Amino acid sequence: MRRYDGRAALITAAGSGLGLGMAMRLAREGARVTIWDRDEAMLAAAREAAAAAGLTLASDMLDMTDGAAIEAAMARHLNEAGRLDVLVNNIGGSLHTPFTFLDQSDADWQRVIEVNVTACIRTTRAALPAMVAAGYGRIVNLGSKAGRFGSLFAGANYVAAKGAMQAFTLQIAQEFGPKGITCNTLCPGAILTPRVERLLAERQSEAERARILATIPVRRHGTVEEVAAAIAYLASEEAGFVTGATLDINGGQAMTI
Ligand SMILES: NC(=O)c1ccc[n+]([C@@H]2O[C@H](COP(=O)([O-])OP(=O)(O)OC[C@H]3O[C@@H](n4cnc5c(N)ncnc54)[C@H](O)[C@@H]3O)[C@@H](O)[C@H]2O)c1
Repeated sequence: MRRYDGRAALITAAGSGLGLGMAMRLAREGARVTIWDRDEAMLAAAREAAAAAGLTLASDMLDMTDGAAIEAAMARHLNEAGRLDVLVNNIGGSLHTPFTFLDQSDADWQRVIEVNVTACIRTTRAALPAMVAAGYGRIVNLGSKAGRFGSLFAGANYVAAKGAMQAFTLQIAQEFGPKGITCNTLCPGAILTPRVERLLAERQSEAERARILATIPVRRHGTVEEVAAAIAYLASEEAGFVTGATLDINGGQAMTI
């Protein structure tokens, strides 16, 4: 018996990056996993990678800045899977908007809030009725080390948006705890996906990168697999007494700066 047998999970913006790693992990542990992404080529590559590993991922293409598209995709998921046990609100990112606050425009703020906060709120709103009806649910929101302690390479808009997700978690945990639903925030430090590698290379010199690594107690950045393992715990049935929590997964970074 694998710990996700019989469970259905939805992971947003999971055609690549951390979300895809989470999807593979939960599928390997027995979940029926649906991934959403706006990029069909990435979804196709994700399905192929899963098939090569002997796994199946269901997928749906949508742009999550469109609220109606989120509602329609949730309805499709529920129709096809018949249930929703796990929601990982993974969509987010700094969208590589300017690092310095005074260089950020209203549009930069709006775009970042839209994907990091609004899309997650809409998805959670669409997901909760099925979880309430079942009397069971696990919601994990992606915060960030940035939202907890500030960032060395993403700006104030991203930091504020991730902080908002952490606060949102607290209220969902309180309001829906009596219905069997938990809600937690996972806050990764820099995880070396190809995209983050490129961003760090653009925004930090080699010397700066070495200096930052020296402040991380484990002396390295994190891996997608490590984030996926943390999700697999927080979204599991056995984490039922953990709610409203913030789990840092950052190698101890920020204890020392
Ligand atoms: N990578 C890190 O180091 C890191 C660190 C801390 C927190 N996080 C958080 O983890 C989450 C995942 O990060 P990542 O680096 O894997 O993400 P990413 O930027 O690599 O994006 C993952 C996917 O999101 C999809 N996407 C983007 N906009 C979309 C939209 N409007 N609709 C649908 N799909 C869309 C992309 O096509 C892509 O496949 C984010 O919330 C991010 O803020 C990441």
